[in-house]
Amino acid sequence: MKVTKICCIGAGYVGGPTMSVIAQKCPDIKVTVVDINQTRIDAWNDPDLSNLPVYEPGLDKVVAEARGRNLFFSTDVIKAIEESEMIFISVNTPTKTYGEGKGMAADLKWVELCARQIATASKEDKIVVEKSTLPVRTAQAVKDILVNTGNGLKFQILSNPEFLAEGTAIEDLESPDRVLIGGDDTPEGKIAIQALVDIYARWVPKDRILTTNVWSSELSKLTANAFLAQRVSSINALSELCEVTGADVSEVAKAIGTDSRIGSKFLKASVGFGGSCFQKDILNMVYICRSYQLNEVADYWEQVIKMNDHQKARFAKKIIKSLYNTVSGKKITFLGWAFKKDTNDTRESAAIYVADHLLSEQAKICVYDPKVNQEKVYADLEYLNTRSSDENRRHVKVMNDPYEACKDSHAIAILTEWDEFKTYDWEKIYQNMLKPATLFDGRNILSKEEMTKIGFRFYAIGKP
Ligand code: NAD
Ligand code: UGA
Repeated sequence: MKVTKICCIGAGYVGGPTMSVIAQKCPDIKVTVVDINQTRIDAWNDPDLSNLPVYEPGLDKVVAEARGRNLFFSTDVIKAIEESEMIFISVNTPTKTYGEGKGMAADLKWVELCARQIATASKEDKIVVEKSTLPVRTAQAVKDILVNTGNGLKFQILSNPEFLAEGTAIEDLESPDRVLIGGDDTPEGKIAIQALVDIYARWVPKDRILTTNVWSSELSKLTANAFLAQRVSSINALSELCEVTGADVSEVAKAIGTDSRIGSKFLKASVGFGGSCFQKDILNMVYICRSYQLNEVADYWEQVIKMNDHQKARFAKKIIKSLYNTVSGKKITFLGWAFKKDTNDTRESAAIYVADHLLSEQAKICVYDPKVNQEKVYADLEYLNTRSSDENRRHVKVMNDPYEACKDSHAIAILTEWDEFKTYDWEKIYQNMLKPATLFDGRNILSKEEMTKIGFRFYAIGKP
């Protein structure tokens, strides 16, 4: 079966870049990305590519090449479903904020809505692809809805989780370590799997396209994120031990990372991992385990989150302690608000939680991030509901110039590892600060030797 028309429901951080790359690599396939959010779709259609709703290095070029040729962004969900043979579901699946499973389970209401829309709009058989990260066995629910409301049509459900990381999405999509496709072991299931394999095989080597049953595919996605987050929590746990023993966490990471069984990636100690997925997916896995009474398994994975919360709180407490146990009324500058470099995404960023902690101690915070605007910073703080919107706006300022942001501050905290922070004139920044001037490097990007030579009091994660 040759697919010629694809649609993707959800034009977010995954749907947008993923479909842009598919459209770029397959000029003969019409790819339509739909979303209910008109502002987001307008931004995807903006002639000025610097206004795309997702910032990703290289994305603008891919969109420029394919948009209007075979890549389209629209809010007409029904029409796109109707005309496509294959429909990707790439909507948000955040942690539930209400009812049963609140704070743990994934909220699947948007996925269910997609399934119902697909059932209503379809006039022919369809292949439905789960691109969103979903709890294992969700395909069963999607199928159930489609079969019961889909006018007697046949639907094949595939699981094709996405492994891209933000900031490197285009690279990851162009040369993925692997593409995973789960489907039914039936003749129809195999045809559907092959149709999707054929799309990726245009640019991904065949031995990197793995096919499994649906449940393995769904669970592999949660597992991959759990393992990755666990590495960060493991090295962060060690960073605290390093600080009290005189060991250096970067040296320890290098020493263990050269063991090929351990590997060198994902061993950077930090102020804590953020992002929309690690915490959400682990909590979801913990919830699933508990629902099967696998309490020891649940406790094991939950510890990864507890360690991460501890690391963020520990960083905030270190700032307070170093500033003579009070930050009340003191200006503390945050360099970085995004959850990692090269993205404008701030979901679950460590910066939000460190700021919240310091604001509760009455600090004045000034934020500079190269890609995050003022309203996003306020929205992130308001979402926590710790204090009024008015208070957040009074105590937090967002600046467009890093040197202005650092002026007259008692301390600077680096929350995101943006490359530009390394190239600043730190001498000049130091001169314009109150003394003693303290620098808290939550990403280990600056040299202690150089900074202390300038005059800074310097703290880095896991360093003597
Ligand atoms: P996102 O919030 O950026 O985008 C989701 C989009 O779906 C939103 O724009 C929303 O308006 C839209 N939407 C929701 N319901 C809709 C409906 N019924 N019809 C049309 N549009 C609808 O989310 P994201 O970061 O792109 O993540 C999407 C999924 O991919 C999640 O399950 C996530 O866990 C997974 N994932 C994310 C990443 C990542 O790096 N962000 C990586 C891999 C997997
Ligand atoms: C992560 C995974 O890497 C992707 O494979 C996955 O597709 C995605 O989640 C998802 O499902 O959403 P992402 O969250 O975009 O991608 O970014 P990562 O590079 O994994 O970083 C996550 C967080 O961990 C960031 O806050 C980062 O700064 C932190 N981190 C990462 C560290 O503190 N140390 C490290 O060594 C690596």
